[in-house]
Amino acid sequence: MNLIQRPRRLRRSDTLRALVRETHLTPNDFVYPLFVCEGEGVRREINSMPGCFNLSIDELVKEVDLAVRVGVRSVILFGVPDEKDATGSQAYAEDGITQRAIRALKREVKEAFVIADNCLCEYTDHGHCGVIRDGEVLNDPTLDLLARTAVSQAEAGADIIAPSNMMDGFVAAIRAALDNAGFEHLPIMSYAVKYASGFYGPFREAAGSTPQFGDRRGYQMDPANAREALREAALDVEQGADMLMVKPALAYLDIIRAVRERFDLPLAAYQVSGEYSMIKAAARLGWVDEERIVIETLTAIKRAGADIILTYFARDVAARMA
Ligand code: PBG
Repeated sequence: MNLIQRPRRLRRSDTLRALVRETHLTPNDFVYPLFVCEGEGVRREINSMPGCFNLSIDELVKEVDLAVRVGVRSVILFGVPDEKDATGSQAYAEDGITQRAIRALKREVKEAFVIADNCLCEYTDHGHCGVIRDGEVLNDPTLDLLARTAVSQAEAGADIIAPSNMMDGFVAAIRAALDNAGFEHLPIMSYAVKYASGFYGPFREAAGSTPQFGDRRGYQMDPANAREALREAALDVEQGADMLMVKPALAYLDIIRAVRERFDLPLAAYQVSGEYSMIKAAARLGWVDEERIVIETLTAIKRAGADIILTYFARDVAARMA
């Protein structure tokens, strides 16, 4: 009798491997993050994110149309306003860049599903995610502004509000404001577990949102903490979040797994700018095979437990799947 186990039997052909594969990616899994700026005909490549652009609204419409054609219907928008001030007033202006972009997308790309990132840092001149007094980011006064931002995004036609700001109580504040304004049907995808991460570096170039003093460690989470992630997620569930997010993704697969096991809500993970840029940079040097490790990292994120992946590779990967 031969007692040796032979797992290799199931790896002998492509068809067999496909048959026993446990994790599958589809374009429906992806949310495509996009940066929208003022102007017309603007398609300005982001230096540290080759292949990603600041897009004026007309160019944004074209980009989303192309994404939809390869099956990526969900996008998340980040506004890059021309004017910034201390309270980030362009974040909640009725004619703010994000509000106009949402309106244009909903009008011009029939299948586009538009998620509105809800934060102030792209709109404040100091680059922090909230109102400042004496060098401190104030919590509760910031909540009012986030709530206003959410309602203005809803009025513009956003399909989901995704608060990313990490003030305490932000989900409850936004939920109450949306309900009051008649948007009780609109889901909240909470960036519940958002770490203070060096992986956001290229995004800050893209959005011009680098803090002008200090850093975000007073509101975003310490990368060393896992139990705290479950506590943050539990608070957001209590406050009415419909979906949860963990961010960044690849360095936090254990956190994705832990949140998946503890909570039943749909779970998103954000493969952030730095994760994108590292792959692009290494591929440019010829040190890794980009197509291969993009699929490998996305598969790992899904295998860890994410249902939804926000990724700058969304359109590219989906195009290759088609
Ligand atoms: C806004 C926000 C950030 C990201 C998403 N929403 C930046 C930050 O917190 O500094 C980062 C996304 C990325 O790096 O791709 N608060």
